[in-house]
Order: sequence, then C-alpha cells, then structure tokens
Amino acid sequence: MVNCKVVLPLLAALGYLLVGVTAQQKDWWETTVFYQIYPRSFYDSNGDGVGDVRGVTAKLQYLKDSGLDATWLSPIFSSPQEDYGYDVSDFLSVDPLFGTNADLEELFAEAKKLGIKIILDFVPNHTSNQHEWFIKSEQRIEPYTDYYIWHSGRPNGNDRPLVPNNWQSLFYGSAWQWSDIRQQYYLHQFAVGQPDLNYRNEAVIKEFDDILRFWMAKGASGFRVDAVNHMFEVEDLRDEPINNPDDPFSYGYTHHIYTKDLPETYEVVGRWRKLIDDYVAANGLETVIMMTEAYANLTMTMKFYQSDDGRPRAHFPFNFAMIEDLHDWSNAYDFKYIIDRWLGNMPSGKITNWVLGNHDKPRFASRYGRDRIDGMALMLMTLPGAAVVYNGEEIGMEDFRDMSFEDTRDPQGCNLGPNNYKWASRDPQRTPFQWDNGYNAGFSSAAKTWLPIHPQYAGNNLRQQQEAATSTYKYYVAAIKLRKERVFTHGAFESRAFNDEVFGFVRYIHENDNRYLDPYNVVLINLSGYSQKIYVHHLYEFASEVATVKLASKQSSYNVGAVVSTAGLTLGPYEAVVLGN
Ligand code: NOJ
Repeated sequence: MVNCKVVLPLLAALGYLLVGVTAQQKDWWETTVFYQIYPRSFYDSNGDGVGDVRGVTAKLQYLKDSGLDATWLSPIFSSPQEDYGYDVSDFLSVDPLFGTNADLEELFAEAKKLGIKIILDFVPNHTSNQHEWFIKSEQRIEPYTDYYIWHSGRPNGNDRPLVPNNWQSLFYGSAWQWSDIRQQYYLHQFAVGQPDLNYRNEAVIKEFDDILRFWMAKGASGFRVDAVNHMFEVEDLRDEPINNPDDPFSYGYTHHIYTKDLPETYEVVGRWRKLIDDYVAANGLETVIMMTEAYANLTMTMKFYQSDDGRPRAHFPFNFAMIEDLHDWSNAYDFKYIIDRWLGNMPSGKITNWVLGNHDKPRFASRYGRDRIDGMALMLMTLPGAAVVYNGEEIGMEDFRDMSFEDTRDPQGCNLGPNNYKWASRDPQRTPFQWDNGYNAGFSSAAKTWLPIHPQYAGNNLRQQQEAATSTYKYYVAAIKLRKERVFTHGAFESRAFNDEVFGFVRYIHENDNRYLDPYNVVLINLSGYSQKIYVHHLYEFASEVATVKLASKQSSYNVGAVVSTAGLTLGPYEAVVLGN
C-alpha cells in the first residue's frame, strides 16, 4: 500500500513538472533564444578573411527577422589569438582584428534600436601571457606578483626543476610552463599562452569586478562566464589520482578533483551576481544576466543556481545534457529520462535552458544526423525556459571534419599533430557562416578566409533556404515564433516515451474547471526512420479528439493548419510536429 508519507514528497518533487506556471510576466531572458555568434566566422565586413564586430552589426536585421532577441558573442577583446580570443590581453578593449571599442558601442546602440540584447563573453579563469598583469607578474612587479599560479617545481639536481605535479592541460601536455624570466613554472589549464589566474588573491577578483562594471556601463545585457569551474585549484597543488594511465600527457590522465569544481568557485560566482544585481538596481537597468559555462556533473552544475541558503548565483548554468548525455543512438526513453532528470533537479523557481551545440563541440547536425535536425530543433524551441542556438544551426550547418592539418588553427587540434588532430580539433564546427552560394559563401571578399569554407555551402546556405518552400531555416523561424505563445512561455510540462522511437511532451496551462478547455500543445518527435502510430491521449488525457497542426517538419506529410485525429496518428520517418487546440 502507498501511504501519505510516500506520496507527499513525491508530489512535491514532481511539482515543477506537473503544476502549471501562473501567467505572471516573464523577464526578458527567461524565455528568449540566445543566438551564439562566433564573430570570427559570422560576417567579415572589411575583407580580411576574419569576421568582425561591424559584421555582426551588419547582420542584426537578420537576427531580428529570424525572431532572435538576444545574442552572445564569443570574445572580441584584445588577444594574440592563441586560443582564438579566449586568451585575452586586455579585457577592456576590442582587438583591432575585430574592430574598435567604438564599433562595439555602435553595435550596442543598433541592437538596442532593434530590441536585441548583447551578451559578452567573460573569461575569468586565465589571461593571455601577453596581458600586462602576466608580464609584470613574471617580473615580480607588485601588485601582480601573485596574480597567477606560480611554483618553483620539484628539485632535479643541477638541471631545470621538474614540473610541480601531474596535472595536464585540456589542450594536451603538462599544465605547467617554465618561465626563464621568473625561474618558476606557471599553471595553464588551457593553452601555454593562457596562464591561470590566482583566485586566492582578492585583488584578482576585484579586477574582474571592475571589468563587469565597465561593460555594463557600455550596455552589455549579460555575461557568458567562460570555464568557470576551472577557477580554483587546491592550495597545495598536490598530484591528482590517476584516471587513465594510457597517455600521461592527456587531460584524461588524472581525475580532476583538485583542479575543477572546487567549492570556492561558487562563492565568487555569487559575489559577481550580487555585484551585477546591485549595479542594475543602482542604475535602473533591465536585468543583466550571467550564464556560466561548466562541463560538470549534474550536482555540481545545479550549484551554479544558488547557494544552500538560497543566495542567487548565475541566472543559469548552460545545460549541456543534449551535448553530453544524449546522442544519435539515444532512444525516446533516454530523452525522457535525461530531460526529466534535469528539470527535476533544478532548484524550485529557477529557469532552465537548452543547448544543442557551440564552438567547442561538434555540430548537432553532425552528431545527431541530418534527418534529426528538425526534431532536435523542435525540442530545443518548445521545452520550458531559454534556448541557445549556435550560429549556423538554424540552417543545419555540419562539421567540416575533413579539414586538412595545414588549414587547422585550433590549439586543441594542432597540439596532437597531423595524425591525431582530426577528432580533437574544434575548427570543423567553426567554419564561416554559409550566407549564400556566392564567393566565400557570402562571408568575406578576402582571397583566403581564416578557416576554409565548408565545401557543402553551395547546396546548403541561408539564401537557398530562405527561397525554398520548406527548409530548416524556415522551420526554425516558425518554431521561434511559436515558442513566443503563452502555452510555451508559461505552460507546464509533461513528457512521454510512446515507445523506443517516439518522444513527446505536452505544454499546457491549467486555467479552466473543465480541463478539456485548457490550452495545450503537444510536441511529437519520431527519432526513427520508420512510421509510427501514436495516441496523443497516452501523453495528455485532456487532448481533444482532433487537434490543429501548429508546426510540421520538412519531412512531414501534415500541413500546418490541418485538423488531425489525435487517436492513431501516424508519424512518418523522423517527423516532428506540434499539435494543439
Ligand atoms: C571554453 C571556451 O568555450 C573554449 O573555446 C576555450 O578554449 C576555453 N574555455 C578556454 O578559454
């Protein structure tokens, strides 16, 4: 027998999934689509082969026309570009390669006119080794002496000391680099040119307080916080336990228990959140958001929302479940489990987000396969909360995995050499945006672009998709429009695996005594290449006998606006549809 002691906590845990969200006004960031622009590859306004800030400004209308109201830009700050902008040498100035501070201010102004929010990349874990702080730290010039993680190394007779410990860089090889000037090693968890800052030094944290204030004053609507869970290391820099002994130079060599996810990290995030909120309140601004980037397990990821005593931290941590936990081989039960698990683990009252890809991960069209593009896009757009779209996803851009070693630029690929670079390099997902089938895919007038254009551009580009009767782009635009309806911005959520192949969920608002009158939309996704017959009532018992098709994928045999029976509905191969009343 199930007693109340069991039932009540269960109901509380399911509360988020089952209870309708009231129709209160949502803040701008809670339901928006964040369009990630990788500026190097978006649009080149000055013909040097590299995309730039003015290129983003030139394409703002494209964002607006697509229904995109917010964009986050990968770094455009001064940088020697060893890690393509994630090695910052001056956090307060735009790199000449991308333009000027005036160009960025113009972008803020033009975006504001169109109602588009601009979010900047904030890179607190490390700087470039060309940053003034590092140059001075290397020379032990105060107050910079302890801005970075320095260590004399382990004694080695009369020779240069050995590296301090067994930590390896994410980009392959030891995480320690010897400095002839300082006669010590410095820590770099990423490229050699990206020394890790010392977050046990309060002065370092204060530098970043000022950087946040500087960009808020210029008009930034938010910050994407890079590699946040790498900010702290254990104080005594001890060895990490061995994980995979096969390759002692690979990042997987150790378990990262002393270099990643340290509890101190969350305190700094909370401090920056408070600083941002205070600044917003003092200046009467709209909400400025903080979204954190951390590849961490679910428990450590959820801690980015708030402290145990409820003090807010990030507005949200990126939800990488669709990148890390779901794959082309996942079945409908896997989708249900992973999505419900995320929602069920969120602290109550917090806002989620969904991400299919970014500049660090293979493109989702390549990971899930071309046939599943519409289905995955539909999920992203109709699940509760915010959605994050990486530029090019909206036209189904795929990885250019066959890029030659000579053309490869990414240190994560280059460090592995010509025989092993291919699967580690992130360049395949960073190729220039395919605007049209003209010269350099309409991206640049340069003789050579910084990365080659994906050879498939002639058959897959924005213009062609805008002109086609049906296309991935048109599907995205329609889905972005649909997600602005109240049932998606405010509706409750319940999911179902109909069988191995069909995943579905309902969004509904419970506001009538007669529940059959409540507004609802059902999202149905066939993950397989076979036709499937499903009964909508198995998911949502209050569905009417017939429903209207609100959205239909390229593969669909249904027309938008058609009225269909909800009992025994046939979904064609890979078909993805939304039905509703
Ligand atoms: C995460 C960024 O997304 C990635 O591109 C970069 O290489 C590392 N952080 C280091 O900044």
